This record gives sequence, C-alpha cells and structure tokens, in this order.
Amino acid sequence: MGRKSFYLMILVVLVAYYTYTPLPDNVEEPWKIMWLNTYLTIFSNVATVVELLGFNHFLDSLSFFMSLDEVPPTSDETVTVTETTFNNIPVRVYVPKRKSEALRRAIFYIHGGGWCLGSAALKSCDQLSRCTADRLDAVVVSTNYRLAPKYHFPVQFEDVYNSLKWFLRKKVLAKYGVNPERIGVSGDSAGGNLAAAVVQQLLNDPDIKIKLKIQSLLYPALQPLDFASPSYQENSHFPILPKSLMVRLWSEYFTTDRSLEKAMHSNQHVPVESSHLLQFANWSSLLPERFKKGHVYKNPTYGSSELAKKYPGFLDVRAVPLLAEDSKLRGLPPTYVMTCQYDVLRDDGLMYVTRLQNAGVQVTLNNVEDGFHGAPIFQTLKIGKRELNHYISWLNENL
Ligand SMILES: *[C@@H]1O[C@H](CO)[C@@H](O)[C@H](O)[C@H]1NC(C)=O
Repeated sequence: MGRKSFYLMILVVLVAYYTYTPLPDNVEEPWKIMWLNTYLTIFSNVATVVELLGFNHFLDSLSFFMSLDEVPPTSDETVTVTETTFNNIPVRVYVPKRKSEALRRAIFYIHGGGWCLGSAALKSCDQLSRCTADRLDAVVVSTNYRLAPKYHFPVQFEDVYNSLKWFLRKKVLAKYGVNPERIGVSGDSAGGNLAAAVVQQLLNDPDIKIKLKIQSLLYPALQPLDFASPSYQENSHFPILPKSLMVRLWSEYFTTDRSLEKAMHSNQHVPVESSHLLQFANWSSLLPERFKKGHVYKNPTYGSSELAKKYPGFLDVRAVPLLAEDSKLRGLPPTYVMTCQYDVLRDDGLMYVTRLQNAGVQVTLNNVEDGFHGAPIFQTLKIGKRELNHYISWLNENL
C-alpha cells in the first residue's frame, strides 16, 4: 500500500468513526442526521480541547462557530425585515409586504441555544421567522437577549421580558399594525423555557393589560431539578443534544463555577430544604404511563445547601416554569407543546403538559415520534418541513 492510500484509509476511518451513530429504525434520513451530528461533534470536541488548553471558554468557542451561520436582515419579495431595539434589546422584525385591511396577528419569538448560544440572526432562526410571517400573514418579532457565560440568570429572562413588554405597548403595536387580541409568544429549546417563563410572569404584571392569545413551546427545557427522567436516561447520548451538554448549558445559565454542573450531572443538587419543589418535576406522577415504561423512579439524593444558596436561580420559577403553582398555571392561554421522542428534554415538555391539563389549560401536545432535539428547525430534513407545517397550521387555527 502506498503512503497516499494509507493516509486516505486513516482519513476514511476517522470520518466514519466521527460520523457513524446508531439511530432508531423509525428515524428518517439517518445519514443526513449523522452528518449534521458530525459537524456538531467536531466543533464540540475542538471547543473542549481549546478549553482544556486554557485558551477559551467552551461556549465562547461554540458561539464563534455558530456565528458563522448568521445572515443579515434582508427583505425578500414577501417580507420586510428590519433590525431595531426594544427597551435596548436588539430585535429583528418581520412584516409581510402584502396589503392588509385588518390589523395583523403577531408572534413574539425567542430563539434557542441553551441561554448561551444563538441569535435572531442565525440562518435557521431567520428562516423560521420569515416563513412564519409569510405563511400566517403575521408580524414576527424575533428577540435577542444577552447570553452566558458572560451574563447569567436572571439577565436572559429580564432581557426577554423587557423586550416583550416594550412590544406589548399600544404605540408599538399600532406602529406595526398588530391586533392586540391576537398576539402569541413562541420559542424553541431554551427559548421555549424563556417563553413559558415570561408568559407566566405577564399574568401578575399590573402594567400589562393585554391578554396573550396563545403560547407555543417547541421542545422546551423546563426544569433542572431532575436529570434522571426517562428521557434523560434514554437519550443521554443521542445526537445533537447529549445529557452532558444540556447539563453544562443549564449550569452555565446560573454560574460558570463548575461545581454546580458536577452536582447536576450526578443529580445531587437540590437541597433537602427544597424537597417540596420536587413534586413539580416528579416524572413518576406527571408522565403518562407509556413514557415511564421500563423505568423505576428513585427518590432523590439531596445536595448541598451552600450551592443552592449561592446559585438560587436553579430553584427560581423564572428559570424553572415547571415550579409554578396551579393557581398561576390556570391563567395561561391555550398552549402548543412540541416534544421529540429522542430528546433529553422530552419529559420536561410532557410534564408541563400534564400540569397545564390538570390546571384546566387548553393544551395541544405534538410528541414527534421520530423526532430528536431541534429537528423542526432543520429545514434540510424532511422531518423539519413536516413539523414546521404542523406548528404553522396550529398557529393558523389558534392565533
Ligand atoms: C414522586 O411520585 C411518586 C409517585 O406518585 C411518589 O411515590 C414519590 O414519593 C414522589 N417523590 C417526590 C420527591 O415527590
């Protein structure tokens, strides 16, 4: 064998090693997903090495890789795209070009990225907002917010809340031709967390007279109390969002001190004083039977009180929407929840659905049986197109 073919062989083996991930049979286009995952794994491995060498925070490297995928706010034949600020928070606004006699519906959208990554300018987010505006003939506001590791909770929450409150003012709604009775809040992943949190907060806000028409939570992260739910156990190594990454993102929302991450990873972080909160994230009582199959609920091992005193955010309802009391949930608008079967966050969404239903809120659950984290925003995949259609048609009927 010549030297060239030897190197070639090594390259092929390396690529195959990186790329090949066994996937369940019902997952469509497995090779495309493996490719997607290969990029992410390479970026994530490079970021890990760079961090180990002491050059750059893991998430700052990931954030740099992701920013390569940002696009400018370009208007097209159907939608006018502009950038502005709401209460000093940068936002992108999408307004359909076609003439409208009536005031329009509106979606306030919050991007995902684990409170650490992403922006309204990412190509996938920009496309989603554009498409939502065009297909619903609606105004879409896609908000940014300051990110970890530079900023921690409650900055992300407050930025989104302040931006939303700015939008909900009469003057601003009139400027964009929005019908105040037909406004919804939507977000994916960590954006779904922020969406659920700000929509709850709005209920008790004396400044806001507007009642939201709907909320939509796409594969949201809703609790960091129990990292051993069936979905965390089943999907801890699934492509796109392994448990280790999700735990890192959750802990970075509160602090860059890695002792919280360590405690979360072994599920020993909720202190005994807060044990009463665990009922709100108890999968044994909140998950439908079919999702519990093969899993035995273990009572929690309690963590250090000091950690919880230092970083109280992880027990704060503004970061953990699942902790809201029933009395609060009762006031929430009709809700769309999309969960993905092969996603560590699946049970967060499912538990929230149960809690909302118990509180009498009208809920539509779409558990995507062949879905994985983020599938609906990958518009190059068939599953992305299909689930986008489901989401858009729900909005069309309910907003
Ligand atoms: C969780 O729910 C199960 C079944 O309803 C119950 O036996 C268990 O004590 C609960 N645990 C906590 C911590 O709430």
